[in-house]
Amino acid sequence: MLTVHSYRVAVIGAGYVGLTTAACLASLGHRVTCGEVDAAKVERLRRADVRILEPGLPELVAEGLAAGRLDFVVGAAAATADAEVVFLCVPTPMGEGGTADLTAVEAVLTEVRDHLPAGCVLVNKSTVPVGTAERTAALLGRDDVAVVSNPEFLREGSGVRDFLNPDRIVVGSRSRAAAERVSALYAGLGAPTVLTDAASAEMVKYAANCFLAMKLSYVNSLAELCERLGADIGDVTEGMGRDNRIGPSFLDPGPGWGGSCLPKDTNALMRVAEAAGFDFGILRSVIAANDRQADRVADKVAEAVGGSVAGVRIGLLGLTFKAGTNDLRDSPALAVAGVLHARGADLVGYDPGLLALDQPEAHDLLAAAGILTLVDDVLDVAKDAAALVVLTEWPEFRGLDWHRVADALAGRVVVDGRNHLDPDALAKAGIAWRGLGHRHAQQSLTAPA
Ligand code: UDX
Repeated sequence: MLTVHSYRVAVIGAGYVGLTTAACLASLGHRVTCGEVDAAKVERLRRADVRILEPGLPELVAEGLAAGRLDFVVGAAAATADAEVVFLCVPTPMGEGGTADLTAVEAVLTEVRDHLPAGCVLVNKSTVPVGTAERTAALLGRDDVAVVSNPEFLREGSGVRDFLNPDRIVVGSRSRAAAERVSALYAGLGAPTVLTDAASAEMVKYAANCFLAMKLSYVNSLAELCERLGADIGDVTEGMGRDNRIGPSFLDPGPGWGGSCLPKDTNALMRVAEAAGFDFGILRSVIAANDRQADRVADKVAEAVGGSVAGVRIGLLGLTFKAGTNDLRDSPALAVAGVLHARGADLVGYDPGLLALDQPEAHDLLAAAGILTLVDDVLDVAKDAAALVVLTEWPEFRGLDWHRVADALAGRVVVDGRNHLDPDALAKAGIAWRGLGHRHAQQSLTAPA
C-alpha cells in the first residue's frame, strides 16, 4: 500500500494520536521524525518499547525503525528541521469551564516558529476549538507556512486499524495547495476525502463526537424507559439499528460514555456555543443524561443487594473506560465506583487491561481516588462480595467459570452494566443476572395462546 510520493513528515507529540500517526505514516512509505518532550519516552520508543495498549502499534513502530523511515527525537524544533509537513499531536485537555486548554499547542508553536522550513505545511490533528487554525496562523506569523486542520477519528484500542482503514479523511485550510499536500499523504488508503476550510474541518470533529455521545445518551435513556415499560432494549436497538439511516453501531447501553474524547468534546462544543450566543439545548441534555448514568447503575446495584450498599462488599469487573484499553481517563466505571464509595460500599476492582503492562500512572490514579482495592485475580474480586458489577465489556468476562465465581461470592447476583454476559450461563451457576433495559423475568415473552 505504498504512496506515490514519499514526504518528509514531522510529528510533534508521541502520545496516543502522535505515535499512531507517526507509525502509520511511516508504514505508508513516508519518512517520519517524531519529536517528543519526554526524553525517557524517546529512549524507549527508539527501542520500540511502546507502553500504550494498542494492537499492531508496537509492531509498526519496530518496522518503521528497522526500515529507517521512523525516528524519535527530543523536542519539537529538532523534529521539524527538513519537514514538508508538520503534524501537531499534543494534548488539548479540558481546561477551565470546559473549554479546550491550548497551552501545549502554544508552547510548541513558540518552539518551532523560527525553525519551520519555508513552504512547509503545519497540520493540526489534535481536537481544537473551531477557529484555532486561524489563531495558529496568527500566532505563527509566517506567511510561508500554511496551516491545515486534519482531525483524527481514531478510537482507542483500534487506532492503527482506524488510521489505515478510515471512513473518510477531512482536510481544511485556506490554502488549497496545502490541503491537497496533506490529503496526498493518505493517497495509498483510497478513502473518500472532504476538502474544506479549516473552521469546517475543526467543526467536523466536534460534530461527529457529539453526535456519537447523543446516540449513547439516547440509548441509555431508552434503556431506562424500556425497563419501566417492560420492553427489551436489546430487541429495540436491533430493530432500530436495522434501519439504514440509523445503523447498528454505537447503540449498546452502558454505565455512560467516557474516555479522553467524548466528555471533553461535548463540554467544549457547549462552551463554544455559549460563547457564540447559541443555546445548544440538545447537547446540554445529552451531557446531563450521561451525568445521571452513574447514579442509575449504582441504584441498580443497591437494589440488587437489598436496598443499600453501605458497608457492603461489591466486586467491580472492569475499570477502564472501555474494553481493549488500559485508559482510566474519564472512565464511567470509576464514576460508578465513586458513587458506590460515597454511599459507603466496600469496593474491590479487577481489570485485565491494568495487568497487561507496567502502568504506574493507572495505579497512581486509582490510589489517588482511594475508592477501591485493586486485585489481580478475578476470583479475588468475587470473594465474599454481595454482588459483582460489570462496568467494562472485556470479552474474557463472558468466558468466566461462573460455578467457581458463585462459590466465591457471598451474594449470588451480577449487575451487568454493559449487557455483556450470557444470563443463561449465570443462571446455570445459580447467579441472578440484572442488566440494563431488560424486561423483568415475570414479563418474559410467552407463546401466543
Ligand atoms: C472516540 C471516537 O469514537 C473517535 O472517533 C474519536 O477520535 C475519539 O473519541 P474513543 O474515545 O476511543 O473514541 O472511544 P469510543 O469507542 O468512541 O467509546 C466512547 C465511550 O462510549 C466509551 O466509554 C464506550 O464504552 C462508550 N460506548 C461506546 C458505549 O457505552 N456504547 C457503545 O455502543 C459504544
